[in-house]
Amino acid sequence: MAYSQSTESSLIIQKYSQKFCMIYKPQVNNVIKDSDLSSKMILQINKDRCCAEIETLASISSCEGPAVTRILYSTEDQRSRQWLKGLMNEIGLTISEDGLGNLTGRWTGSDENLSPVATGSHTDAIPFSGKYDGVIGVLGAIEAIRSLQEAGFKPRRSIDVIQFTAEEPTLFGIGCLGSRAMSGSMTVSEMSALRSDQEDDIDKLRKAAGYHLPLSDVLLDSSYYHGFIELHIEQGPRLERDKLDIGIVTAIAAPATLKFELKGDGGHAGAVLMPGRKDALVAATYIIQEIEKAANNSESPDSVATVGIMDIHPGAINSIPSHVEFYADIRDINLDSRNQMVQYIKDSASQICKDRNIQLKVSTVNADDPCLSDPAILDTIEAACVEASVSYKRLVSRAYHDTLFMSRICPTAMIFIPSESGYSHRPEEYSSPEEIEKGILILAKTLAIMSHDI
Ligand code: GLV
Ligand code: MN
Ligand code: MN
Repeated sequence: MAYSQSTESSLIIQKYSQKFCMIYKPQVNNVIKDSDLSSKMILQINKDRCCAEIETLASISSCEGPAVTRILYSTEDQRSRQWLKGLMNEIGLTISEDGLGNLTGRWTGSDENLSPVATGSHTDAIPFSGKYDGVIGVLGAIEAIRSLQEAGFKPRRSIDVIQFTAEEPTLFGIGCLGSRAMSGSMTVSEMSALRSDQEDDIDKLRKAAGYHLPLSDVLLDSSYYHGFIELHIEQGPRLERDKLDIGIVTAIAAPATLKFELKGDGGHAGAVLMPGRKDALVAATYIIQEIEKAANNSESPDSVATVGIMDIHPGAINSIPSHVEFYADIRDINLDSRNQMVQYIKDSASQICKDRNIQLKVSTVNADDPCLSDPAILDTIEAACVEASVSYKRLVSRAYHDTLFMSRICPTAMIFIPSESGYSHRPEEYSSPEEIEKGILILAKTLAIMSHDI
């Protein structure tokens, strides 16, 4: 499908704010036209090309399709990065990688003195996940750049496509590792303290994957980027329900992750009688019920709490669990509600363990603040939707994204496309080629404006 900028409107720039002094507006008076933004630019998003690439990437997985698994620094993660570098090379992007493996492809702009605009997302995938989470933001960015190049567009600010390292909390149990580090939301010593399930430290694992640069160089200066925008699937049902093409994300919910370590007493499942048992797993099940209760009883409709992973030691049918370790993922758009849940859960857990003579250690893996999108970028995305005649609404993101951390160092916003039945983090994840095409179109238009924003 070809999308033409209507000749009377074209890409028009209007000075309207200090921070972002250009906005994409179809019909305004007293506009400044920019010679690099062709009024006849035709953006041709090749959805078949992009969808074929989505399938190729999905085939680089450590589980059988249609599910996808790509864990940080695994062979599949490494192969997918190599393949992505090939795509970046094909379209002339200048590639760089930092000590964590954050991968950036730069389309160099005409004025290298200006800070670049960035876009991107992640391609790592939790076990038995889908094809689209994160991938749309990376391969969609590649397609957006290709379509702009094919339309003859020339950026003034450079445009960076970033594939962030480990948005998913797999190997080290912490989400958004790459963007967290880039934005200075995690110090080098906090990074160095990270350990995998196998107790391997991050230096050993990243170096084995080929990333030798110092972790201190991952941090970006807070003036490094002019702005960041991420295309992503909604991972919820609102756009599909309302029959809308695009979600313009105004805020991202605040996640907290707690790690629970319970130590009881093991023994023979037949020989140790019930009175006086210190079964760590039974205590954990009571804590998990309180975790569910915390979210159910919260006054906020956005409160959610989940336990999705647990280790039981020694892990035999006929042995009383002596040690249990599990994580709780607790979220809300509203920070106070999130924090109240966290407190309730900690208090309940310590009471349960006290009553059952179980030793308890609770650590906060992360407790992040929510973020708000930049009003000027939101308006720019909205104007792009109006100009392209795609339907849209503003909404909040209940999932977290690398944008949450990029917002600590530059103005940000996100573009959502519909997810069939709201499915995500499961193999049934699906967005249609037409939905993907519209998302890429809006991303391309927004990048075009931001890259000429001075
Ligand atoms: C991201 O994958 C999240 O868990 O929100
Ligand atoms: Mn995800
Ligand atoms: Mn994601």
